[in-house]
Amino acid sequence: MSASPRKILVTSALPYANGSIHLGHLVEYIQTDIWARFQRMSGNECHYVCADDTHGTPIMLRAQQEGITPEALIERVHGEHLADFSAFHIAFDNYYSTNSEENRELAQAIYRRLKAKGLIEIRTIEQLYDPQKEMFLPDRFIKGKCPKCGAEDQYGDSCEVCGATYAPTDLIDPYSALSGAKPVLKESEHHFFKLGECEAFLKQWLMENPDQAPLQAESANKLSEWFEAGLKDWDISRDAPYFGFEIPDAPGKYFYVWLDAPIGYMASFKNLCDRKGIDFDAYWKPDSDAEVYHFIGKDILYFHALFWPATLKFADYRTPTRICVHGFLTVNGQKMSKSRGTFIMASSYLNHLKPEYLRYYFAAKLSDRVEDIDLNLEDFVSRVNSNLVGKYVNIAARSAGFIKKRFDNRLSAELDDAGRQLLESIQSKQAAIAARYEKRQFSEAMREIMALADIANEYVDETKPWVLAKEDGQNDTLQRICTATVNAFRLLTIYLKPVLPQLAEQVEAFLKIEPLRWGDSQTLLLDHAIEPYQHLATRIDPQQIEAMLAESTESLKKAAHSPARHGEAQQQQEEKMTEAMSDTIEYDDFAKVDLRIARIVKAEHVEGADKLLQLTLDIGEENTRNVFAGIKSAYSPEQLAGKLTVMVANLAPRKMRFGVSEGMVLAAGPGGRELWILEPHEGAQPGMKVK
Ligand code: 2FM
Ligand code: ZN
Repeated sequence: MSASPRKILVTSALPYANGSIHLGHLVEYIQTDIWARFQRMSGNECHYVCADDTHGTPIMLRAQQEGITPEALIERVHGEHLADFSAFHIAFDNYYSTNSEENRELAQAIYRRLKAKGLIEIRTIEQLYDPQKEMFLPDRFIKGKCPKCGAEDQYGDSCEVCGATYAPTDLIDPYSALSGAKPVLKESEHHFFKLGECEAFLKQWLMENPDQAPLQAESANKLSEWFEAGLKDWDISRDAPYFGFEIPDAPGKYFYVWLDAPIGYMASFKNLCDRKGIDFDAYWKPDSDAEVYHFIGKDILYFHALFWPATLKFADYRTPTRICVHGFLTVNGQKMSKSRGTFIMASSYLNHLKPEYLRYYFAAKLSDRVEDIDLNLEDFVSRVNSNLVGKYVNIAARSAGFIKKRFDNRLSAELDDAGRQLLESIQSKQAAIAARYEKRQFSEAMREIMALADIANEYVDETKPWVLAKEDGQNDTLQRICTATVNAFRLLTIYLKPVLPQLAEQVEAFLKIEPLRWGDSQTLLLDHAIEPYQHLATRIDPQQIEAMLAESTESLKKAAHSPARHGEAQQQQEEKMTEAMSDTIEYDDFAKVDLRIARIVKAEHVEGADKLLQLTLDIGEENTRNVFAGIKSAYSPEQLAGKLTVMVANLAPRKMRFGVSEGMVLAAGPGGRELWILEPHEGAQPGMKVK
């Protein structure tokens, strides 16, 4: 660590102000919080800020639906979010709102600077307009018949049946999902940020400092793909009615929510600085020696790694030190699912389980790579019970009783050689574990810490304090052994404190010590009075998991039947779940469809396609089939490679913008992340006919 404290600003993505926090969100907040706590414990000046992302059409419509103002909605949700985060010990230095004066001023000032540099262009575009609601319709609020395959009720940007992508104006018989009215084309002036002109700068930002690269390799590769495809100008304005900030000198035009959302990081920090007397400019001026880290999910990389650094650079601010990207959360190996009860809200979890169990489990799974992490509920129970409680907490339980009963709660002044060696070996790992935290390799840190807990337990097994306690003349030895054990526990608590802040506080009270800091691992606690030991953590009973899943299913059912809490998108999804049954067909009609078991040999992203994945399918023929499937919103390529599925093998080949699609894979679900491809039971082989 450098001699003078580093100045660090760290953020997590701002959650939208129209939905509850679920375990998927928590991966990121827990990851960021562990990192920020480690930095603070190490003596660095680290500020962790966040806010609710409050603007945009869905929030405006949701408030209308609830019959309240957007301000009332975002205020209520702010309270709910903050309660959930606090319960999980997410220690924000500020949790603010993008609908703040600081954000308005910063967004407008940034816009003015970009405009002064010639990076804003105003162009007239044609868009579909709902004459009944008197508003322009975002693509997902326009539906109609797919222009390619004729499927009914498809969204304005792509068909979920055939995977085709198109402009909303290509839909046949389009209608507004808000009013049902037929949309009309209407011209409007839009403000564009000329991202294309920022390409040279972005490439240089990406490459200039190889020792401190701003992106992980996976994200940097993604950027290269985007550079190759060419950077398009970014439409940053929306027409009234819109809940957001008005664009300066452009009445009736508002900043698109994604323009002011990342500026919300700065605004939240500005608000903190003003309250605490921190120097905002020292963090944000172009030559700042402070560090800025943004933790985000892989789905919002484009905004953070292209728009955001370009916006900052050309508005004369510093650029981010690093964008730390993580993958999505799966539960029991699959996407979180409402019907299986695995779409678990923070509040449902908290009603049954301790927050630190999840913090520990996520830490044990998180790496610095952009990969999905799985919450396997059986593994969760077993890791918490055997590692956290069985190995770590047990160390204290095994020795503290003797300290109380036999030594009036006092630790010895001396240690035996074996005890000293044990503690030295734990202390010697301090730098290695610190490096793991610093690099966000938390699973490695947890592995090393648990290996040290094993050594401490072996020490207790070998020295057998319970045997010594029964022998005469062994009092001093017993006290030294128990003192070494309590010290081992204290050292491990220091190493685990970024992950388990509340448990660490309980340990500090038990040991009667000041809050532990990272450097304290080089000292020992000798000749010191402690409090009587009280149980620190209990094992999870699998029934708690059952109860949580049951509550989760139940609460989602309730939410589905309470119109007051519906988002527009959610409502649309529910409508789709109850799609009307199709007309009866004869067996011969069905037999015309040749369904085959297919092995997904390869799954890849398609350059320039938002919704599609390109699948290479083996159906037992000499050559593989190439199929474009509209499932990108629900699957990453890594989740699919090697899996079996079912395909329509005799569908006429269809020429698409990206190539020819030679069939179709079968999937169920309303769309978006709620989409599941079919998978046969074990034993089915590629090429088998499905009848
Ligand atoms: O994807 C989301 O949930 C956005 N609300 C994240 C915004 S992060 C930042 F840029 F503000
Ligand atoms: Zn279609």
